[in-house]
Amino acid sequence: MLHLLLLSLLFEDDSLLFITLEEHWLSPALDSATFSNIAFQLLVNGSNPPSFPAHLRDLGPLRLQNMTANNIRKQVVSHVTVPAALDSPESFTLANNQLAATISNNTDRFAAFAGLPMAQPEAAAAELERCVKELGFVGALVETHLANGTYYDGAAFYPFWAKAQELDVPIYLHPTLPNVGNVTNIGAGIYAPASPQDFSLFTAADLGIVAWGWHQDAGLHFLRLYSGGVFAQFPKLKIVLGHMGEMVPYMLERADAFLSPKNTSRLSLKETWAQNAWVTTAGFFSLNPMGTMLRNTAVDRIMYSVDYPFGNSVNGSMFMAELKTSGLVTESEWEMIAYKNAQKLLKIQ
Ligand SMILES: *[C@@H]1O[C@H](CO)[C@@H](O)[C@H](O)[C@H]1NC(C)=O
Ligand SMILES: *[C@@H]1O[C@H](CO)[C@@H](O)[C@H](O)[C@H]1NC(C)=O
Ligand SMILES: *[C@@H]1O[C@H](CO)[C@@H](O)[C@H](O)[C@H]1NC(C)=O
Ligand SMILES: *[C@@H]1O[C@H](CO)[C@@H](O)[C@H](O)[C@H]1NC(C)=O
Ligand SMILES: *[C@@H]1O[C@H](CO)[C@@H](O)[C@H](O)[C@H]1NC(C)=O
Ligand SMILES: *[C@@H]1O[C@H](CO)[C@@H](O)[C@H](O)[C@H]1NC(C)=O
Ligand SMILES: *[C@@H]1O[C@H](CO)[C@@H](O)[C@H](O)[C@H]1NC(C)=O
Repeated sequence: MLHLLLLSLLFEDDSLLFITLEEHWLSPALDSATFSNIAFQLLVNGSNPPSFPAHLRDLGPLRLQNMTANNIRKQVVSHVTVPAALDSPESFTLANNQLAATISNNTDRFAAFAGLPMAQPEAAAAELERCVKELGFVGALVETHLANGTYYDGAAFYPFWAKAQELDVPIYLHPTLPNVGNVTNIGAGIYAPASPQDFSLFTAADLGIVAWGWHQDAGLHFLRLYSGGVFAQFPKLKIVLGHMGEMVPYMLERADAFLSPKNTSRLSLKETWAQNAWVTTAGFFSLNPMGTMLRNTAVDRIMYSVDYPFGNSVNGSMFMAELKTSGLVTESEWEMIAYKNAQKLLKIQ
């Protein structure tokens, strides 16, 4: 109860302030493809109540009530991670249409990021364009690599990056599920225990996903895009990294020292970070990574997000309340993080 009192004091006008950007939903079109993945099942079963799938599938009362109770005015909704569909343009078309239709009666509370068939970069570019121009989506949230481990720094993906730059919409690089064998092959997988009594497969899934693997993997992808010259080729790209920047802020100076070319015609990693990257707090509700990030990332690039329904919106509100009185940001910087940066990046109200 104390935290509710604190929140009501901090968010005095009781208004719906926040805009959040990493908020997931499960489309009927991709339901079985998502839940058939054992790593996904382990993630869901290991740390969530039985009601979790219902929250993930809902874009109505359950979610709206949760948003309202936690000062969230608008969620930018995206599909939950589904590596199996990356080479199925038809599935994503269906899912994007379902998302657009479901939120069409409620555009003051919801906006959308497209899901894209990244295994077919030209089809992904076309679907991005359709979603932005015809469905009014504000960008895309994509799996950070293909099912076979391919990242998007190769020339095959240039048509996709060219389209994102041309449309001037952000691409949110979201972690994707690890190769299942690395979670479940006891004694062999990089996240699996050496033997069954050491730790459970739920813990293995957490190591590979939310507790570590996801984040280093998505951070690596940003460094690969930089190293592969994607930002040199498409200097106006807007990349969003969730989860407090997917470890990049913590590593930025060291990675910059090794990866930035001596060739001065290309921007350094730190310059690229300043020019092409935005970050969200999704699911990370601690001032420690936030403090690190505020020291090397411009405050107009940092945006609040919950990671609903995986992240807990109450913990998110508590974090934003803590941030407000932490001395790390001014009142107007706090408002930028809470919603103004998102309005500007996504061109929404
Ligand atoms: C997760 O829970 C569902 C529903 O209870 C069950 O069908 C599935 O087998 C479980 N999977 C794992 C890997 O625990
Ligand atoms: C919009 O439609 C969805 C799904 O049909 C429903 O759950 C939701 O309550 C509706 N929202 C409003 C504001 O009418
Ligand atoms: C929704 O919000 C309530 C409190 O407002 C919280 O306890 C609950 O865990 C949230 N549910 C989900 C699925 O995030
Ligand atoms: C990975 O998958 C993509 C899409 O199916 C394919 O184009 C590519 O050749 C594959 N790469 C490897 C190394 O197998
Ligand atoms: C771990 O994943 C890689 C692909 O990312 C795969 O080649 C390898 O076989 C996997 N290891 C196990 C033990 O399944
Ligand atoms: C410097 O980098 C640019 C852009 O990547 C490249 O076109 C050029 O060839 C490089 N010059 C040298 C001397 O390496
Ligand atoms: C929310 O915060 C509580 C108390 O710090 C913690 O026990 C819980 O794990 C947090 N939940 C999430 C989903 O972060």
